[in-house]
Amino acid sequence: DTDHIAAANSAETVVVAHRGAAGYAPENTMAAFELAYRMQSSMIELDVQRSLDGELVVIHDLTLDRTTSGTGEVRMHTLAELRSLDAGSWFGGEYSSQQIPAFEEVLAHYSGKNIGFLIELKAPELYPGIERQVADSLIKYGYDKMGPGQVVVQSFNHESMSTFHDMLPAVPTGVLIEDPADLENEKLDEYRTYASYVNPHIYTVEHSLVRQIHARGMKIYAWTLRSREEADYLLDLGVDGIITDYPDYVPYKEAKK
Ligand code: G3P
Ligand code: CA
Repeated sequence: DTDHIAAANSAETVVVAHRGAAGYAPENTMAAFELAYRMQSSMIELDVQRSLDGELVVIHDLTLDRTTSGTGEVRMHTLAELRSLDAGSWFGGEYSSQQIPAFEEVLAHYSGKNIGFLIELKAPELYPGIERQVADSLIKYGYDKMGPGQVVVQSFNHESMSTFHDMLPAVPTGVLIEDPADLENEKLDEYRTYASYVNPHIYTVEHSLVRQIHARGMKIYAWTLRSREEADYLLDLGVDGIITDYPDYVPYKEAKK
């Protein structure tokens, strides 16, 4: 059962299961994470937000409507309220028992198991102090002492990543990028002062970008792969990691070029 962790520790392409194996099970639930684990993904990607009473929870949207039986903003509900919701039926009736996971529940469940985490702070500007909370949770479960690349914290909010890096430099950070203008060399020079990963949308990845990121000693994980053709394209470009709803779409033992 230790085979799949080799991918994260070697020069092979890291396969990151997006929101768990979100193509096959309801995103950001234990069912999706368990499937990602069984599919031998290198890492689980998940999105962290905070309940009204200050507990870290795992859900992508800022509102409950799309993926749960609730409505309204995540941050306006207590943990108990959030836990009472059905987070699986929208995907399939057999998932009706799935709940919004508490962040620490996920960390506890996979502690000591051979799978890493790519943890996204979702809209951290709405959750003052969330960087400290996430850092404390990671420390509590020993995720600050994992091998290189086993746990990465990422966000579209780059200031938040700079803050996180200052708080817990043992856990590397990544900058999520959608706009190609944010991939200029001057920007990369800035990111390298606090980030170890530059994680762009797949359609912005080019050979020259991969070279520029590597030249600065950083890695590149691209998101979000949803077809087999895209896998070949990304592997050819030499990205270090692929974030995908379908972990089985990435030829698993493919050597990085
Ligand atoms: O991990 C990258 C990807 O998750 C970023 O976009 O909207 O799926 O959180 P989103
Ligand atoms: Ca995400």
